[in-house]
Amino acid sequence: MYLYEGIEKAEKRVRAVLAGCGEQAVNMIHNAVSYLDEVEIAAVCDLNPDRAEYAAKRLGVSRVYLNLDQMLSEVEADCAFVVTIASLQAKLARQCVEAGLHVYTEKPLGTELEDLQDLYEAARSRGRKIGVSFNKRFNLAYHDMKKAITSEAFGHPNAFIAKFIGGYRSNETDLLRTGSCHFFDLARYLVGEVEEVFAYRYEEQPGRHTFAVTARFENGCVGSMTFGSLGSWVCGYGMEYVEVRGDRSMVSAENGRDFIWQKPSLIVPSDTGLANKGTQAVTELSVPVEILRPNYSNLGKLALKDFYINGNYQSVKAFVSSILNDTEPPVGYQDGLMALKLALAVEKSVSENRAVKVTEI
Ligand SMILES: NC(=O)c1ccc[n+]([C@@H]2O[C@H](COP(=O)([O-])OP(=O)(O)OC[C@H]3O[C@@H](n4cnc5c(N)ncnc54)[C@H](O)[C@@H]3O)[C@@H](O)[C@H]2O)c1
Repeated sequence: MYLYEGIEKAEKRVRAVLAGCGEQAVNMIHNAVSYLDEVEIAAVCDLNPDRAEYAAKRLGVSRVYLNLDQMLSEVEADCAFVVTIASLQAKLARQCVEAGLHVYTEKPLGTELEDLQDLYEAARSRGRKIGVSFNKRFNLAYHDMKKAITSEAFGHPNAFIAKFIGGYRSNETDLLRTGSCHFFDLARYLVGEVEEVFAYRYEEQPGRHTFAVTARFENGCVGSMTFGSLGSWVCGYGMEYVEVRGDRSMVSAENGRDFIWQKPSLIVPSDTGLANKGTQAVTELSVPVEILRPNYSNLGKLALKDFYINGNYQSVKAFVSSILNDTEPPVGYQDGLMALKLALAVEKSVSENRAVKVTEI
């Protein structure tokens, strides 16, 4: 018997345990999970008792743990949501998988290749699913961007431009493996696999860096990415930008919100006598280029929430659906692995001052 049945009534449910009740968990993942009628929250856990209690009260859950092992041994569940510390995530996910649960982790899936490999083996041998919270794939702006890029008129993607500059970090590994992984994943999602990177590093002091990364994709597209920790976490502007160029088309999104799709202009023969704008090779009609610029705040209730616009809700829902329908999670182990490999390739390029193929990692 459920007191509140959620917005969309589910026919089947999964029982979930929540590991980690920090900022990201409380602000995003717990909200997303609690909006989904197909998830029944069985227990929460955090090393910090205040955080665990707060999350439990907020979600109306009576079983509260300070130890993951104990929660896993005492609570029956189908899956776990791990939202803890980047360097611990793969290890804790493995504990959950070894207890027989499917697991969804916040990004990054992990920060060391060995941890990911161990998790993969544990999950494979037990037939458990791994989902990764690369929620930007479901963010409304990036989701629309993908649709535009794959539309017929867009042309072959030839430039991927990305910027992510936040506040201070504990070290450069944190910036590349934890912070920038979203953009390595977006590069793969929007354009395709990256073949090679070359990177330069500016260092003010440990934890305060800027990286300039050039990339070549397997499909020939070239990329330019800037990642930094000399910005601000609270300024609200200038932190995140992604642009993809096609043939006279382009899509861009500022801060994961302000999406623009500039569609191609019309090309006509140059002898039409119309007032045309000449370019070096062709003539373009001087009609206004069509630009699509939706306002994502002009949406209904659920869709107004940050965790919907950012894609956390859809990402969690897609993972839960993969359990209920016994399909592969749409974003999973391979995506977590490739994002880490790209960060490692950038680190290697800086330390060896040369272009590094992703296959070297
Ligand atoms: N998708 C995104 O855009 C996004 C944004 C921010 C953070 N994150 C990710 O979310 C994760 C959490 O980040 P945060 O900002 O909430 O950090 P946080 O420090 O606020 O929270 C982490 C919590 O994990 C708990 N914890 C640590 N070890 C634990 C263990 N062994 N068992 C149970 N609980 C444990 C801590 O006590 C803390 O409450 C990180 O992996 C981060 O990369 C993702």
